[in-house]
Amino acid sequence: KLINGERWYDTQGNLIQAHGGGILQYGGYFYWYGEDKRLVKGKSAGDLYGVSCYRSRDLTEWDYLGNALPVNHEEPDHPLYYKKILERPKVLWNEETGKFVMLMHLDIPDYTYASVGIAVSDHPEGPFCLLDTKHPNGYESRDMGVYQEQDGTAYLLMASHWNSCMRAVKLTGDYLDFTDSYTYLYPLVGKCESREAPAAFQKDGRYYCITSACTGYEPNEADLASADSMLGIWRSLGNPCRGTDAAVTFHAQSTFVLELPDGRKLLMLDIWKISDISDSRYVWLPIQWDESGIPFVTWTDDWRAALDAAEQQN
Ligand code: DGJ
Repeated sequence: KLINGERWYDTQGNLIQAHGGGILQYGGYFYWYGEDKRLVKGKSAGDLYGVSCYRSRDLTEWDYLGNALPVNHEEPDHPLYYKKILERPKVLWNEETGKFVMLMHLDIPDYTYASVGIAVSDHPEGPFCLLDTKHPNGYESRDMGVYQEQDGTAYLLMASHWNSCMRAVKLTGDYLDFTDSYTYLYPLVGKCESREAPAAFQKDGRYYCITSACTGYEPNEADLASADSMLGIWRSLGNPCRGTDAAVTFHAQSTFVLELPDGRKLLMLDIWKISDISDSRYVWLPIQWDESGIPFVTWTDDWRAALDAAEQQN
């Protein structure tokens, strides 16, 4: 059983390593990708290992499919050199090209390179091949997420200007590059602040994005922004968390919203454990809707029971 905040294990009995991750739905399976922060003998705690890939049919039993994007150990100039930064990987399937595309934050240890890494594979489990690192529309990009519309149009959500702006940028049709169509979520109307950890979703033609504030791995207050299209005018609706510890996002930070085919949605978060980052935990919370149609989340230990109890939403 996967209880929020406790240790989660794969079907081989190993700790699941999929931090800052996201889930791709493809061919009747869920594929969960994330930062693999395992400790490797002879390596330091911050060293990169790669992007893990897990597969499940029911969101509960996760088979480890391996390292989908192994890092480089020989060339210090390589963007995937193991002493660099790789965060928040997300994978999309491109129906036009048939390729799996991984987008991720690639950086150098002082975070001044601030790029989006673009990798591609013919298979969901990889191996992915890094094609390029880019600065969308000439801007630096740090924490990031993705959003894919039903019609295949996809967007990158990215923190730019040293985190003082959160932007949404439309991807090209093959998802391998960025168009000139973009907008700002933050600064936004009525509330201007720095945000990280974007997780976007949609319901009945309204778009939402949950973000965190910028306090490193320390928890902070989340915010929910909304617009009538991804490139529309975004407004803040305030903190989407309710109940005990809502002001610190239940000690967690958003990473992705899984939208199930029946309309139910699961907000995925990380509880970062600074003393041992490899033992950071996961929290999944079904998104609820209040009487005014505003989405919110409350803490629950058993996300599976809460999800099963949630009604179909389309
Ligand atoms: C906050 C970000 O949201 C995380 O992805 C990570 O970059 C940490 N900062 C690193 O301190």
